[in-house]
Amino acid sequence: MRTSSDEEIIIHKENKLRAWFTQGLSEKDRIIDGFDIGWGGTARWATSLLAEHLVPHKNLAILDVACGYGTFLVELGWRFPLAELIGLNLDFDPPHNNIVSLLSQGEVKAHLISADALQLPLISEKFDCVSCFLGLQDIIITRGKESLVDVVSELLRTVSHQGFLTLLDNFSKQSFENILSQQSLEYDLVFHDSFKPNCQWSREVGLKAVEMYAQGYLQQQLDSNNPPDDNHKALTEIRKKMLSELENQLETQGYYNPWGIMRLVLLQRL
Ligand SMILES: C[S@@+](CC[C@H](N)C(=O)[O-])C[C@H]1O[C@@H](n2cnc3c(N)ncnc32)[C@H](O)[C@@H]1O
Repeated sequence: MRTSSDEEIIIHKENKLRAWFTQGLSEKDRIIDGFDIGWGGTARWATSLLAEHLVPHKNLAILDVACGYGTFLVELGWRFPLAELIGLNLDFDPPHNNIVSLLSQGEVKAHLISADALQLPLISEKFDCVSCFLGLQDIIITRGKESLVDVVSELLRTVSHQGFLTLLDNFSKQSFENILSQQSLEYDLVFHDSFKPNCQWSREVGLKAVEMYAQGYLQQQLDSNNPPDDNHKALTEIRKKMLSELENQLETQGYYNPWGIMRLVLLQRL
């Protein structure tokens, strides 16, 4: 059973990892980059839900797809210390190579695989749990929105009988339902809910974050099947869209939360 001391231990690990991750940065950059560790409580919310369904401290095989530099993978390692972990990402070129030192600082071991989520080089029904944390939104950039039904089918294919698939992204309920309704493999929908991350940034922090995120978004577009012809124009458009969202949020709620509401769906494969 999960206890409040389990949560306190994980909060302590997050704080320690965040201090390392943001060392030497300016105050604004510390706030922005520091958010990646734990995502304002979202990672703890999601992994504690998984722990209710998977038996913690049992030998589990867990795959985290679009793991980036491993901020969710490290939390999976803390929550399931005896699990065999695999992190999969399109590439582990910079900045994603930071995953190696991040996992090492977090004292979590994982195998890393470079591959496309659309075609996983993994056998079917292998994993007790497959997760994709804020990965689908990036897969839209690299492979297009229409790829999501196939990507989710591919993730479900690798889940064992009675195993779990958890998808976490800032999509609407309707968008998730649309993707799930087109799956041919059978599953039970165990949980579908949303979470508001603890993130209330000022305009100053928001402006700096928009600059950082717009650059990251452009980089993803350049790695995609359909890269922009004019980088400068693409960056200006992304920035404009993000700035308009920032202004809208500041006006309506008085702060900026770049990722909005997180939505989690948990499926159990039949
Ligand atoms: C922002 S990260 C998501 C956060 C990450 N899960 C974490 O815990 O820190 C999204 C990742 O998706 C990866 N990605 C994009 N398209 C992909 C694809 N088709 N297959 C696999 N990974 C992909 C990107 O390289 C990026 O690292």
